Amino acid sequence: VTALDLAVIGGDGIGPEVTEQAVAVLQAALAAEGRPEARLTDYALGAEHWLATGETLTDETLEALRGHDAILFGAVGAAPGDTRVPSGLIERQMLLRLRFALDHGVNLRPATLYPGAKSPLTQPRDIDFTVVREGTEGPYVGNGGVIREGTEHEIATEVSVNTAHGVRRVVRDAFERADAGERKRLTLVHKHNVLVHAGHLWRRTVEAVAADFPEVTWDYMHVDAATIFLVTDPSRFDVIVTDNLFGDILTDLAAAITGGIGLAASGNINVEGTAPSMFEPVHGSAPDIAGQGVADPVAAILSAALLLEHVGEAGAAGRVRTAVWAHLEDRADGDRGSTAEVGADVARRV
Ligand code: NAD
Ligand code: IPM
Ligand code: MN
Repeated sequence: VTALDLAVIGGDGIGPEVTEQAVAVLQAALAAEGRPEARLTDYALGAEHWLATGETLTDETLEALRGHDAILFGAVGAAPGDTRVPSGLIERQMLLRLRFALDHGVNLRPATLYPGAKSPLTQPRDIDFTVVREGTEGPYVGNGGVIREGTEHEIATEVSVNTAHGVRRVVRDAFERADAGERKRLTLVHKHNVLVHAGHLWRRTVEAVAADFPEVTWDYMHVDAATIFLVTDPSRFDVIVTDNLFGDILTDLAAAITGGIGLAASGNINVEGTAPSMFEPVHGSAPDIAGQGVADPVAAILSAALLLEHVGEAGAAGRVRTAVWAHLEDRADGDRGSTAEVGADVARRV
């Protein structure tokens, strides 16, 4: 039996705080399954690392990361008002560079209303859907620029890139997930009434791939309407497939309706298996609460469960999820406790 070989990137702010708990829970779950302890390699990356070294992500670090079975990631980024760090520098040159270089074509973001979790919706029920967000394209690619900067005639562009390859890969993955589930429903979310070029590529791709999944029923929704239904009738969704930017926005909303950003997990999946996948909470470095030991580590812990499942440790993954369910049920009427207390409680239940 070979031990799981993991890279761990804590990052900035609450990133290292929640990642520490996720690692402890992951090790506890492996131990409970009689599996060997995972081997861990820590990587110092993020805004603090850049301030200290001037490095965002070197080619050497990227190559070293490629050698691991999977990556557990916390969060990076400075406080929005921190003038020492240019906005977007770490996000683009470190986090997005990793997602692009490791070809994380599918950004998997499940949204489940756990028993006991507090939704702001008045009648939340049966919320259990997955957003399959494209991970390497769209307006995120940095295909833009600025001319005549600072003048009356400035023009700034961010051109969304959508390739047949990238769209097909994420759409196929979404259909596979819908087909493997019970409800077998897929919703394409886009805005093809305005973004006609990309929108039509997405629609044609869904139509074509749908032919291979006769049991899956699919529909289409404009992204603005999707925000309505996520609030008024989220139980109508099963698998949502959408582009990189729409998926980013919809998954913060999905987190909010299922009990908060502190619970939302994600996986950046390399579908082809050519590089390690990376698992991280949907939330960021939360500078407003960093260093206080109060961040909720559940999102990071559930991201570790996604990691375990991805690497074939389904038993350990199931243990983590069951432990989190029980933990959330118990915390329903009181304080959740500190980051360390939540982590210890989940680890104990594992
Ligand atoms: P954020 O997700 O960091 O914080 C939004 C709000 O949610 C804050 O009030 C924060 O306190 C709260 N919150 C987040 N995680 C929480 C947790 N686990 N428990 C309790 N409360 C939690 O988003 P932001 O403020 O827009 O961004 C802060 C920084 O993080 C920025 O630099 C941004 O670029 C970066 N960011 C990074 C990632 C990532 O690394 N994957 C994701 C999102 C944002
Ligand atoms: C997320 C974050 C990132 C994204 C940023 C920090 C690049 O918001 O993981 O949701 O937009 O994908
Ligand atoms: Mn986001």
